[in-house]
Amino acid sequence: MKDAKKPQAIQIRDLLINPPLLLAPMAGLTHSALRRIMIDFGGVGLLSTEMLSAKSLPTENPRISPYLIRTEKESPLSYQLLTSTYKNIGRAIDALHALKADAVDLNMGCPSTAVGKFGAGVVLMERPEEARRIVAETRKRTALPLSAKIRLGSDADSGKLKTFCSMLEGEGVDMLTVHARFRHEPFGRNPRWAYIAEIKECIKIPVIANGGIFSAEDAEECLRISGADGLMLGRGAVIRPWLFAEIARTVYGVDVPEPMVSLPDVYTAFIEALNADYRPIYHLGRLKAFTHYLSRNYKFGHSLACKVQSSCSMDEARERAGTFFASSKQ
Ligand SMILES: Cc1cc2nc3c(=O)[nH]c(=O)nc-3n(C[C@H](O)[C@H](O)[C@H](O)COP(=O)(O)O)c2cc1C
Repeated sequence: MKDAKKPQAIQIRDLLINPPLLLAPMAGLTHSALRRIMIDFGGVGLLSTEMLSAKSLPTENPRISPYLIRTEKESPLSYQLLTSTYKNIGRAIDALHALKADAVDLNMGCPSTAVGKFGAGVVLMERPEEARRIVAETRKRTALPLSAKIRLGSDADSGKLKTFCSMLEGEGVDMLTVHARFRHEPFGRNPRWAYIAEIKECIKIPVIANGGIFSAEDAEECLRISGADGLMLGRGAVIRPWLFAEIARTVYGVDVPEPMVSLPDVYTAFIEALNADYRPIYHLGRLKAFTHYLSRNYKFGHSLACKVQSSCSMDEARERAGTFFASSKQ
C-alpha cells in the first residue's frame, strides 16, 4: 500500500487551519460544551457550529442561544449557514460579523426531508442557479474565509458534480468539504472517497474529505484514496472527542500530548459546561444526544445510552450514568 499523502496546514485568506483536521457541523452535537472538550484534547484545526438557519440567526440572542454560546478557547470557529435563498444571506452575515466568526460555511449537503422541503441542504445541488446566487451573495457580503459543504449529489453523475464544484469555486468559495455519499445514502454505507480525487482534479481550492473516519487508520486510508487536503471528522469525534489529537499525532506528526482519557471525566466536563452556560431547558436533550455516541466506547454501552435516554431529569441521568461508570470497564 502506498503511503498516504500527508497534507500540510491549509491557509484560506487569513485563516490558518493547522493541522488540516476539521470538526463536522452536527445538529444537536457540535455546540460549545462538546467543542470545549475537543479543543482541550487538542489537534483540531477548525471547529464548527451546527447548521444555523440564516433566516433565524439574526433574531438569536448569542448570550443564551444554545446554538451561539461560545467560549474564548473555541477558536478558530466556522459558522455554518442553512438557507434556501440568497435573500437571507445579508442579515445572517451581519450577525456573523457581530459574532466574530472566523469562517463561514454554506450547507449544501444536508439530506433531511424537512430541510429539503424548503429547497435547502443537498437539494441546492439540484438548484445550481440558486446555489450560485447564495455563494455570490455571501462572497459579496463578507471577506471572511468561505467554504461550502456538499454531498456527491443525487446520483453517479461525475460531470454534473464537477460542474457544480467548479461553479462554487468560480463564485468565490475558498474551500470545499465533500461528504462522500450520495444524497440518499445512509451513514452506514461505505463512503466513496475516490470521488473526492475526481473533484480535486477539476478545482484548485483545498478540498476536505468527510465521511466514515473513526480512527487514525481510516484517516490514512481516506487520505490515500481521496488525496484530500484535509479531513473533517463527525461522529467519530463525538464518540471519541480525542480523535483529533490521535490523528494529529499519528498521521500528521503534530506535537500534541497523547490523550489520557477517562470517560467519566469527559462526561463530567460535558455536564459542567452545560451547567455553566446553558439554560436548564437545554441540558437534558444535549446530554442524551452526546451519551448516544460516547456510550459506544463501552462493550455494553447500549445500557448506558438507554438509561440516560429514559431519564426525566439531569439528576436522574447523572446518577444512572455514575452507576454505569462505577460498574463498567473502559
Ligand atoms: C446527528 C448529526 C447531525 C448532523 N448535522 C449536520 C449539520 O448541521 N450540517 C451539516 O452540514 N451536516 C450535518 N451532519 C452531517 C455531518 O456533518 C457529516 O457530514 C456526516 O456525519 C458524515 O461524517 P462522519 O461519518 O464523520 O460522521 C450531521 C450528522 C449527524 C450524525
